[in-house]
Amino acid sequence: MNVLLLGSGGREHALAWKLAQSPRLGKFFAAPGNPGIAEHAALVDLDAADHRAVVDFCRKNGIGLVVIGPEAPLVDGLADNLRTMGYAVFGPDKVPAQLEGSKGFTKDLCARCSIPTARYTRASDRLAAEAALGEFGLPVVIKADGLAAGKGVVVATTEEEAQAALETMFDGGFGSAGSAVVIEEFLEGEEASFFALTDGTTIVPFGTAQDHKRVGDGDTGPNTGGMGAYSPAAIVTPEIAARVMAEIVEPTVRALAERGTPYSGVLYAGLMLTAEGPKLIEYNARFGDPECQVLMMRLESDLLDLIEAVARGRLAEAEAPRFSNEAAVTVVMAAKGYPGTPEAGGTIGGLDRAEAAGAKVFQAGTALREGALVAAGGRVLTVTGRGASVAEARDKAYAGVAAIDFPTGFSRSDIGWREIGRALPS
Ligand code: AMP
Ligand code: GLY
Repeated sequence: MNVLLLGSGGREHALAWKLAQSPRLGKFFAAPGNPGIAEHAALVDLDAADHRAVVDFCRKNGIGLVVIGPEAPLVDGLADNLRTMGYAVFGPDKVPAQLEGSKGFTKDLCARCSIPTARYTRASDRLAAEAALGEFGLPVVIKADGLAAGKGVVVATTEEEAQAALETMFDGGFGSAGSAVVIEEFLEGEEASFFALTDGTTIVPFGTAQDHKRVGDGDTGPNTGGMGAYSPAAIVTPEIAARVMAEIVEPTVRALAERGTPYSGVLYAGLMLTAEGPKLIEYNARFGDPECQVLMMRLESDLLDLIEAVARGRLAEAEAPRFSNEAAVTVVMAAKGYPGTPEAGGTIGGLDRAEAAGAKVFQAGTALREGALVAAGGRVLTVTGRGASVAEARDKAYAGVAAIDFPTGFSRSDIGWREIGRALPS
């Protein structure tokens, strides 16, 4: 089967690497891709925002399945247009993708279905938002309603911070994403990520992970898209996973199907594990980046079979996903300046040495300049290891990092610390 993969990050490199292991893969294209993805797929110059161009490409190249990596094309309705033209797509339509595209949409759905989540109020002007602040103590969480590339959330610990956040959002600091806000109760606990595949009817768990969002060691400094991750997240015990499915994921998928807008694809639930049980922080309509890298390192099933079953509404007939019992850890190497303005053009060497040291390097923000690999983004490489424990997997990943020559890059030195600390004998 011929496949078109959309996206250009480490997530998409991991998906490409795994798809390329399927004996059923025919011609494989990626747009826009990156030099790592190019090891597996022919890169094509296609703009995912130009839906007609994507459909034309699929027709001319006999594409049997389109895999949409990032959220923007999903929220923009690319999957709807492809499905209308008869193509199988991995990724939800525009309305169900609102689970990620609108925080208010998700909160209202949770309220209707009694899904455990933080208490909240929606507000679409500053006065109403200020009035609503009074309903919550401190800290309080303020979120731009729309897509804000992970930056539209402020946890305010003082009244002044809360006011400043509202001012930024309603003054257009997040563009149209901030023209409405959700104000919610601060939840205490540990965060974890839970993944499920669904075709709208059948739902299967698809692994757990925890990531490190802050840029600096010890979880300090500004938030990023993620500086590293590991899987599985042992804190999500089988009992908690069963509750997440029954109390959060299943009611969500059922509610969307009942309103005639079924969700098809991977559903990524960001959870807070509170003293009262797991609560939903947010949904994403796609795989996490870099969580996808650690999931793909552990997946033993044929990814193409699984996601084709999702796309064709045949998940009930597919074999249940199988994951290795081993752990995986990924360490992001970012360009200096990230998450602000990253330094572009820095040279990168030693990827083959990293792989010889037992790591798998997934490329994210890379480009080829006169045949040499250079940095071309914030998160540049995701160096991934697998091992019998998180500690072993971490050692493999860091052996890879040490072998890489990327003078304008940096990484955190403590990915996995929480899990490794827990695993130490007391
Ligand atoms: P989100 O983009 O909704 O995932 O939020 C980004 C981050 O803000 C989360 O990963 C949490 O660390 C934090 N956060 C969001 N909502 C809450 C909440 N209600 N209580 C505590 N922390 C939160
Ligand atoms: N790593 C967080 C995300 O992909 O949203």
